[in-house]
Amino acid sequence: MRNRVYNLQEMKHAAFPSGVTRETLIHWFREGRARTKEIFRIPVPAAYFDRPIALRNPIVFYEGHLPAFCINTLIKLALGREGIDERLEVLFARGIDPDSEDAVKDPGSVWPSREAVQAYGTTADAIIERVLSGETIEDERVPQLRGAEAAFAILEHEQMHQETLLYMLHNLPFDRKVARAPLAGASGTSGALPTPREPNEPIAIPAGMVTLGADRSTLGFAWDNELPAQRVEVEAFSIDRHSVTNGDWLEFMRATGASAPHFWREVEGSWHRVGMFTLEPLPLDAAVYVTHEEAEAYARWKGKRLPTEAEYHRAAYGTPSGEERLYPWGDASPDETRGNFGFTQWDPVPVGSYPAGASAWGVHDLVGNGWEWTSTVFEGFPGFEPMASYPVYSSDFFDGQHYVMKGASPVTARELIRPSFRNWFRPNYPYVYAKFRCVA
Ligand SMILES: [Fe+2]
Repeated sequence: MRNRVYNLQEMKHAAFPSGVTRETLIHWFREGRARTKEIFRIPVPAAYFDRPIALRNPIVFYEGHLPAFCINTLIKLALGREGIDERLEVLFARGIDPDSEDAVKDPGSVWPSREAVQAYGTTADAIIERVLSGETIEDERVPQLRGAEAAFAILEHEQMHQETLLYMLHNLPFDRKVARAPLAGASGTSGALPTPREPNEPIAIPAGMVTLGADRSTLGFAWDNELPAQRVEVEAFSIDRHSVTNGDWLEFMRATGASAPHFWREVEGSWHRVGMFTLEPLPLDAAVYVTHEEAEAYARWKGKRLPTEAEYHRAAYGTPSGEERLYPWGDASPDETRGNFGFTQWDPVPVGSYPAGASAWGVHDLVGNGWEWTSTVFEGFPGFEPMASYPVYSSDFFDGQHYVMKGASPVTARELIRPSFRNWFRPNYPYVYAKFRCVA
């Protein structure tokens, strides 16, 4: 094996946001990698080269992509050092083009064996831990910021992929995966609080200012599409207390002949929800996952529309006094009483199950139980600059073909929950864990 010399100087002296220590980063890294390993135990071994979503890479790609991204981003790009295996780092940077001939070849001729992928991962993990712990070699050529930004980028990248991996595995047939309890352990039914649910009525929100995005100085780390902070005025509007449920969607289908969402299946004449591991009679009170196009069609039928990104912020973080909160419920850290996020459930629960997570206006489930679709086309804020450690992260998607989603799904990690975090998808992509509500 080649000798590798890493430039860790700037990692030793990198300025991290207050309260963040190297121990925090290493703990976060280990926790992230451990959860990823749990996720890769979900598909049965025979499914390793399956492509549960036709336009995505097979499962094998993602097991290699996560460690390769760490090496490509932190070691090669930010620190300017050699990687471990150039061939794997190219293959796992982008994978294959699923429309090309590669896709129809024998998987073994394109992809390494699982043993080789896992061995690469083990080597990469050890290197990343050494770097995060600040082991040092003298060299001051690399600007300090890049190492710190890249460290956060790899940590959050891992968690974001855990969610997209789970969308993908959701789409595997039940007999190709091994059912298991939610990854966060046994906080179990905390989601399904037996509250008498308040009716789903429109809540009036007065005009006011909102802050979109964030400043790096206050946040420590943010993706490029969150920067810089913007103050935006929002007109008065009304927003539904609850997101749209399966029961609501059924009514819409019956009234208009609209189709069933991707996550539904008809069994012997009655509709069922295809959960992560279970097929169950449609839970009528649970939030419905739909595409942006479907959400818009429903809102039109109601004579309403989807909220803009700014309206979402006003409903989620605004208060009657004009102050903005860190979370809909206030400034306390996200925990399992505030919403369905952080891997405590696999699937959406009844809307309004988390009264302790309601916003200042009494709007429920704005963070958790599925991302919320907005009518805002994804683009950079004025002053956008691509980030040094991952320049194509956002800018590749500023094509007018993607819409902003806000909040969190059941399998969004708590560390990703912050007001400025933005997610985005195509309007017709059916696999994503996204719900919606209407405004007028
Ligand atoms: Fe990635």
